[in-house]
Amino acid sequence: MQELAQPQVLKLVPYSPGRPIEEVQREYGLDDVLKLASNENPLGPSPLALQAIREVLSGLHRYPDGGCHSLRESLGRHLTVEPEQLCVGNGSNELLELVTRAFVGPGDEAVMGHPAFIVYRSVCQAVGCQIREVPLKAYTHDLREMLQAVTRRTKLVFLGNPNNPTGTCVAPSDLHNFVLELPGHVILVVDEAYREYLPRHLQPDLLRYIREGRHLLALRTFSKAYGLAGLRVGYGIGSREMIEILNRVRQPFNVNALAQRAALAALGDSAHLEATLRMTEMGRRALQSNLEELGLSYVPSVTNFILTNVRMEGAGVAAALFRRGVIVRSMEGYGLPSYIRVTIGTPQENKRGVEALAAVLAEMQAALKPLSPPDGRSGT
Ligand SMILES: Cc1ncc(COP(=O)(O)O)c(C=O)c1O
Repeated sequence: MQELAQPQVLKLVPYSPGRPIEEVQREYGLDDVLKLASNENPLGPSPLALQAIREVLSGLHRYPDGGCHSLRESLGRHLTVEPEQLCVGNGSNELLELVTRAFVGPGDEAVMGHPAFIVYRSVCQAVGCQIREVPLKAYTHDLREMLQAVTRRTKLVFLGNPNNPTGTCVAPSDLHNFVLELPGHVILVVDEAYREYLPRHLQPDLLRYIREGRHLLALRTFSKAYGLAGLRVGYGIGSREMIEILNRVRQPFNVNALAQRAALAALGDSAHLEATLRMTEMGRRALQSNLEELGLSYVPSVTNFILTNVRMEGAGVAAALFRRGVIVRSMEGYGLPSYIRVTIGTPQENKRGVEALAAVLAEMQAALKPLSPPDGRSGT
């Protein structure tokens, strides 16, 4: 079979998502499993979104609105852009794929940070595009070096802002200079999956650059702060011309009916969003100080997750946590073998996560200690 596949596809490593709760329950025979692995919203979906879904159920024999008309209208008002400047996708992951398929081919190059969200790399590899990875500096995108990495062949630059898995962002003033210095043949994709968690002064005004006619696509999602990861809705904001091109490669009914209605309702539920942001902020402070108490270093986060150095094999720590019913993310696949990434949960979830981590670390540290020498009394 392999000889039939495209060579660039054979080089792809399938994305390995955070382990589902049901899988860990089955494998370890546990009832009560806590997932702090995929940066989901621990408060759950907005009640308004759930109500909206109930109202659509009886119409499920119909295809959804292929153009996400109502959702784009509403997003357009919310963001003060034209609906024609919006493309809605099956999660923002789909937008990452669409922009790559639409603009990049074999022989082209894409610039991205490392470590950054793994999907940037896989969507580029799938179309045979050369990847130029630029190491982060102090866990943050090194915009100066990224600019240096741009060549005549560069078509796309990916910037996760905030970045996953580090939880950091670039200063809006640095991003401003970067946007101004990027050559005109490059499209900048700014992945803002975690934008809502940023304090206002760190949220860049990307719409301004789009209005100025710069080649920029901003990606946002309903999966994180809006609590709808299971429904898969994300969107891109760009110029009308850019969105028109993305729509050419988009499947006609890419966003299902439940997702469209739920996203629309969630957008109007500012109370749920505010509660989410408040809880995340408190949880982040508590979790960071708990990590300090455990003697662990971490990357100060502006998101709903924290990258922490456990100073031993992170995959081993994650596996030991699974056995205690806590799912976190090992960062081996991101080239950070001694790190794990922990999503901020509710206060109770955070407490359980920290207690399990403390127990696992103590257990593993004890196992690493050399056995005490025989004291002479046990021999015969
Ligand atoms: C940085 C980043 N971008 C995009 C996504 C994809 O989100 P979505 O659920 O909208 O596809 C994620 C999900 O983890 C992410 O961390």
